[in-house]
Amino acid sequence: MEALPESVQQLADGLRAAGYLPGQETALVAYLAVNLGKPVLVEGPAGVGKTELAKALASCLGRELVRLQCYEGLDEAKALYEWNYRKQLLRIQAEAEGASWNAVQDDIFSQEFLLARPLLSAISSSSPVVLLIDEIDKTDQEFEAMLLEVLSDFQITVPELGRIAATTQPIVILTSNNSRELTEALKRRCLYLWLDYPELEHELAIVRLHTPELAETLTRKLVEIVGMVRELDLKKPPSIAESIDWARALLLLGASEIDEATFRQTMSVIVKHRTDIEIVAARVGVALSTSAT
Ligand SMILES: Nc1ncnc2c1ncn2[C@@H]1O[C@H](COP(=O)(O)OP(=O)(O)OP(=O)(O)O)[C@@H](O)[C@H]1O
Ligand SMILES: [Mg+2]
Repeated sequence: MEALPESVQQLADGLRAAGYLPGQETALVAYLAVNLGKPVLVEGPAGVGKTELAKALASCLGRELVRLQCYEGLDEAKALYEWNYRKQLLRIQAEAEGASWNAVQDDIFSQEFLLARPLLSAISSSSPVVLLIDEIDKTDQEFEAMLLEVLSDFQITVPELGRIAATTQPIVILTSNNSRELTEALKRRCLYLWLDYPELEHELAIVRLHTPELAETLTRKLVEIVGMVRELDLKKPPSIAESIDWARALLLLGASEIDEATFRQTMSVIVKHRTDIEIVAARVGVALSTSAT
């Protein structure tokens, strides 16, 4: 039996050791999820650490991560299980000529011919896993309904085979970018965590963790500028992922200062829409050039 974290602090330390700096709320919700056995729905803008939370949780609990990446048109065959048609055909061909259909049928619709997809893998694993259902908002409501059944009963019904009950219960993390409203029924079964852009000091710690070699004053300035850029009315504000990329780029270029020239040269690492670039160049670029004089 694995040891579950005994306090919020202990889980927070574990996540940190796995390279993830959780906010207070994140550590608390993760702790509750682990100990209550409830799924967590993590929502928030792109690049704020939703997916990474599941990875870090798996790593700090020493569990395998099973990932179901959602997309439009994802169906049960890709999420739950599929019959291995080829193997079934081969078996039918290999059966003696005289075998009755009933005998063959019993045979080819058995576990041996079932291909487990992430949801089935997660509940039938011999040791408990962390199940990441990533970007659930990309699927349709029908898929969500199917998922509810799995999440509330931890079992999957295969018509030809019957009920497959969970051998172990996974810790489930669902993420969403909020591209559509999820059903109330799904939300009711989950704990909820809203991840937003972090506070300055928190982001500073995260960027430092990823690029400890970058001078501290430079890292601080970088995070301050990213904060300023987020205040502007942009199509796509820079996320933590962009802050980290920018820090890496500055390190690689050997920058010792973020002056106007450096900013203009490297701003495409943090702003990625043409109209956004214009706004940012005008507002932040100019602010940097005047603050230097
Ligand atoms: N709290 C954190 N501690 C350490 N690293 C973090 C943290 N939050 C985010 N990151 C880093 O930010 C990057 C983006 O995180 P992630 O991929 O989890 O974002 P996301 O919210 O899933 O984004 P998307 O919605 O685009 O999938 C990763 O490289 C991750 O390491
Ligand atoms: Mg993600």
